[in-house]
Amino acid sequence: MVCKTWFSLVALGCTVLATPPGGTEPGGGPTIIEFDCSDTPELCNNMCWGAFCTDQGDGAIGQTLTYDAPSPDTTNARYKAACQTPKNRCSGNGDYNSCDEYPFKQTNEADIEDAVSRCVTTNAQSIQGGKISAFTQKHKALDQMLITFGNPGDSKFCNYPPTCDNKDGAEWQNGGPAPEPKNPPKNKRHYYLTARGTELASGVKLPVGKRVTSFEVNQTAVEGNIRRLGKRDHFTEYQTVDNEVVEYLFSV
Ligand SMILES: *[C@@H]1O[C@H](CO)[C@@H](O)[C@H](O)[C@H]1NC(C)=O
Repeated sequence: MVCKTWFSLVALGCTVLATPPGGTEPGGGPTIIEFDCSDTPELCNNMCWGAFCTDQGDGAIGQTLTYDAPSPDTTNARYKAACQTPKNRCSGNGDYNSCDEYPFKQTNEADIEDAVSRCVTTNAQSIQGGKISAFTQKHKALDQMLITFGNPGDSKFCNYPPTCDNKDGAEWQNGGPAPEPKNPPKNKRHYYLTARGTELASGVKLPVGKRVTSFEVNQTAVEGNIRRLGKRDHFTEYQTVDNEVVEYLFSV
């Protein structure tokens, strides 16, 4: 008997070691991912708007996303749904000509939620793509990630006090400027210090000692790219690195 998925394990009553959906950590639960916002502040604004500011009464999209190993057709369709009106809505927008979507097109939530988008630099986009790729290379379909935000100081929607002000209309959803939430965010955000020295923002409480997966530049890959391509290619230059919550700072 071959037990292919967690669902069939339940159905067949298999008792072999099984990882439930999202159970990628010892004891289960999503992998806590840190996106360091200091190198991609606008892109973090998009993730935080999606995570925290999309509450029209039935809850915001939130921070937990489920990688579902989608086909290129699926990721393309998800990208288009979030970013094309009918072409890339950010094209011609100076340096900020790349459209970033949240939930990520690599995740199931992109099909469930009304994705938000924001115009960012292609550089930021490929840095984020490189980090997501470093995660997905080590995970399988149905593994979940809980997105947290490192060094959020330059990202107004991740920083404190919490704000969800879309007066400039830069956040989009459903083909036009995203509506602001009817009420100010009611859930507090929590701020922590990590072992790698970053300040970490999360709407979900994290215990001190909680393992966090962060990302760092893979110097071997950088050198390889420069040798072979004559330039950097951020998309291929990230690796995961273990990190940990070491101190609770405050909640606002
Ligand atoms: C770093 O990059 C090199 C070259 O692409 C690759 O072989 C290696 O596996 C990477 N290291 C990690 C930890 O991902």
